[in-house]
Amino acid sequence: MTVFVLGSINLDAVARVDDLPRPGETVAGTSLALFLGGKGANQAVAAARMGAATRLMGAVGGDDSGKSLKASLAGYGVQVADVMELSGAPTGQAHVWVANNAENMIVVTAGANAMVTPQQVASTPLEGQRVLLCQLETPATAIETLFRTGAAKGALRVLNAAPALPQGAALFPLTDILILNQTELATYAKLDREPVRLEDVSVAARKLMSRPDQTIIVTLGSAGVAAVRRDEAFLVEGKKVKAIDTVGAGDCFCGSLAAALASGMDLREAVELANGAAALSVQKAGAAPSMPSRREVETFLEG
Ligand code: RIB
Repeated sequence: MTVFVLGSINLDAVARVDDLPRPGETVAGTSLALFLGGKGANQAVAAARMGAATRLMGAVGGDDSGKSLKASLAGYGVQVADVMELSGAPTGQAHVWVANNAENMIVVTAGANAMVTPQQVASTPLEGQRVLLCQLETPATAIETLFRTGAAKGALRVLNAAPALPQGAALFPLTDILILNQTELATYAKLDREPVRLEDVSVAARKLMSRPDQTIIVTLGSAGVAAVRRDEAFLVEGKKVKAIDTVGAGDCFCGSLAAALASGMDLREAVELANGAAALSVQKAGAAPSMPSRREVETFLEG
């Protein structure tokens, strides 16, 4: 059960505020904390906490943050031999504001994450990797190389096309399972409004399919998760919990899903497990530090 993640590694500087500022407004923060973050790192931690042998490929700067984030990843059990330390580049950073109602705003500066190359990917052996998991905070050219190589080796290719970027759509034909949130679905499917009902989500998702064997999973926030295939669609309802910080909840879902699929679970079981994991993650502060263990998720889902 192996998961190979290609993705970003950021230092998240998280300020809590009563209410998010409006453009031009200054507001007082109530606390500031630094966390391991980045969609790739978060998803790798989620997969490792779910029990999968997990490798992360990416890049940090040759600065103190890079070294400390790499050490944190290793502490979570993520294999980091494929994380480059690039002298002369800063480690990626995310400036995150979280309001009392758990809404957030994030600005990311990519730094070293933007310097992962297709050549680095091409020179990496992928034998034995069951699930390949990517997001769009590292260059699309590197993801394309990974997915093309992985297909030849029989790996399942999972793309979380977040944040929504124009170059993301070109990767869809190379993807076996595409994971989007409602906003990203509306952007890629060119809709005026975010779809809410399963029927509307299914119609929009099928517009993005280029092969009959693809699956599109759409996270719907507190409403749950929709999974859409060409001939079927199902909804797994959201768990009712009190969210204090939703940053990284989507990453928790993606990493947990990848781990569940790598362990041989079928799609519905894997979505249910990942949905439970994400519900637990929103009850803790920080992105990577909020990823629950498999035992915590199983206990939660049994209760
Ligand atoms: O998905 C949440 C992540 O997005 C944060 O950890 C931040 O680093 C940005 O990459």
